Amino acid sequence: MKVLVFNSREENTNTYKLVTEFIRQALAENIEVKTLRTSEIEKCVGCRNCINKEICIHTDLLSDYLKDTSYDAFIFAGPIYFFSLNSELQKVLERLIGCDLRNKVLGLMLTSGSNFRYGGADLIIEQFKRIDEYCGSITIEPFNKVTYDKITSLNKCDILGIKKFIEDLKTEILISRGGCIDKI
Ligand SMILES: Cc1cc2nc3c(=O)[nH]c(=O)nc-3n(C[C@H](O)[C@H](O)[C@H](O)COP(=O)(O)O)c2cc1C
Repeated sequence: MKVLVFNSREENTNTYKLVTEFIRQALAENIEVKTLRTSEIEKCVGCRNCINKEICIHTDLLSDYLKDTSYDAFIFAGPIYFFSLNSELQKVLERLIGCDLRNKVLGLMLTSGSNFRYGGADLIIEQFKRIDEYCGSITIEPFNKVTYDKITSLNKCDILGIKKFIEDLKTEILISRGGCIDKI
């Protein structure tokens, strides 16, 4: 099981702390995790090469990762900004438009600071569900941490939340690989 995490934030942020804990728990579950800092990823310039089934003009780390079709899941980790993905994650998403996302699992690990209408997490899920419909990907519900302050240390709920996120990830990967999960 191979997972690529797009981490859009630097150290000492809420996102970074959650990603670090995610990696710790995922490795304990024998999930292979690679992390890519979004600051190392070029933004889409709209050349349309990828849409025309040609090769993306960028030759950065993301293009290398995307050539490797063995990844089961891509995880978008970052804060919600103004009811949307932050621009760093939106930048990555745009680079995926020419990829074969059929049966790939997309995971949302979002942090937020507002309880007003889910802080906008519902809108982001809606966006990803539309991508699923169009591309055949499978988005798992976000691990969404609402916090007004910086996370100093993770509490039991955060850790259990990440555990649940990993369980959902594993289940969806199994299903996307044609596995059969018995439903009770
Ligand atoms: C410019 C800006 C816009 C924000 N917009 C939202 C928002 O629309 N909804 C929300 O729930 N939180 C919003 N927040 C709060 C952040 O999502 C929250 O503080 C998050 O935990 C920060 O994560 P980080 O420590 O990884 O940067 C916003 C924060 C900033 C700086």
